[in-house]
Amino acid sequence: MSSIVELLAHKRDGGEHTAAEIARLIGAFSSGELADYQMSAWLMAVFQRGMTDAETDALTQAMLRSGEVLDLSKVPGVKVDKHSTGGVGDKISLCLAPLVAACGVPVPMVSGRGLGHTGGTLDKLEAIAGFDVNLDTRAFARTVAEVGASMIGQTKEIAPADKRIYALRDVTATVECVPLIVASILSKKLAEGIDALVLDVKVGAGAFMKTEASARVLAEALVRVGARGGKRVVALLTDMSAPIGRTIGNALETREAIEVLHGKGPDDTVALTLALGAEMLVLGQKAKRLAEAEAKLQKALTSGKGVATMRRLVAAHGGDARVVDEPDRLPRAKVQLEVLSERAGWVTAIDPLELGLTAVELGAGRTRADQVVKPDVGLELSVARGARVKKGVQLATIHADDRAQAKAVLSRVKRAFTIADASFPTPPLVLGRVEGGLPIDHAARPGRLRVGQRAGPPTAELRGRRREEGAAARPGAVGRRGPLREVPR
Ligand code: URA
Repeated sequence: MSSIVELLAHKRDGGEHTAAEIARLIGAFSSGELADYQMSAWLMAVFQRGMTDAETDALTQAMLRSGEVLDLSKVPGVKVDKHSTGGVGDKISLCLAPLVAACGVPVPMVSGRGLGHTGGTLDKLEAIAGFDVNLDTRAFARTVAEVGASMIGQTKEIAPADKRIYALRDVTATVECVPLIVASILSKKLAEGIDALVLDVKVGAGAFMKTEASARVLAEALVRVGARGGKRVVALLTDMSAPIGRTIGNALETREAIEVLHGKGPDDTVALTLALGAEMLVLGQKAKRLAEAEAKLQKALTSGKGVATMRRLVAAHGGDARVVDEPDRLPRAKVQLEVLSERAGWVTAIDPLELGLTAVELGAGRTRADQVVKPDVGLELSVARGARVKKGVQLATIHADDRAQAKAVLSRVKRAFTIADASFPTPPLVLGRVEGGLPIDHAARPGRLRVGQRAGPPTAELRGRRREEGAAARPGAVGRRGPLREVPR
């Protein structure tokens, strides 16, 4: 077998790795035989040279096998998670998980922290006093069974190679690389014990993927590799050319998510929650069609079932559940500074990247993984894209530690708003849809692993079943469900 250095040279020179070579690289990295600087060199070679589908599959499996696969087989029902590729003001998971759980679909959710200009679900949950995102795997499984949903961070058992590789990618300019993103996201998701996954692939200035074409490539790769991992996967391509909803910042976003559950959220936040939730209900076999699923979700909003599940979720994680009915209990920054419009016109653009970076500057996010975020600071938008404003009208509120800090970002926030003489059509929220994977036959799913058991290659039974289900999991083939089906909405 080639030496580690030969393997690095192979990728540097544009070669294709075998699955065994990739397993060796990740295995050697996990055991310490392959140093961080060698992994960094390999990551840059992958960034430059790319990977074939087969290599991406092999990398995902190797990273998955660096840890364990959670066993949620005792939790009845088809377990469905949702993952967003990262955006600004993206608080959807916080209202989505309890809402979907309230409709009977168990949601085991392993989330991330904010990095760069994008926020993270764990930071937002931790704005709730006492909320523990570090439940161990048993408590996680118990909470999913009892409450219907649980939201934790990546444990040391879940794809540990990804955790170390992501930290290296973050400091070696190798984050924006489709095969690395796919393997990173899916190695964690395949380890969660889920049956199906809904992906929110963000497109636009506030996302990793700036164009619809590049987001589509990512969505298709995620769906394809997820399907090969035995999961039903749906990806929605959604607009990230403006922040989602009215808030950016941890406690501010948590408050807005709670408002959604009380039936009062901003239109786009509610619409995105319903669109992603409907996909989850269909995958979770609680509705046959998206329209039926949306109606169920609406009912869970109006009946108060969604908000009741949120109370139980917060309590199960040790948090102060009173915030669900009294959001004033959430932390509030010491200073609020209004941002006023300097001219009249139509708000034609609100730059999510600028506002995301401003929130980070205020302390709501981090530029390095080891930084501590502030729960209370951030930005609150008073107008949405498309609004007509007069001069002097309030555009936003800056929530800061002190007045000097707020004033320091004032002109940056103002600049993020484009106010023009004529209106401009806003893009649709959902830009596209990709789906794939094996039909779910929950009772007969083979190859289950227990907590503590390593993920291995597919069993003979699973291989046979995949051959039978066949085409569905193979890109390019024509199958019963079709491998990658794109349905414009
Ligand atoms: N989210 C992840 O978990 N990994 C990536 O590489 C990018 C986004």
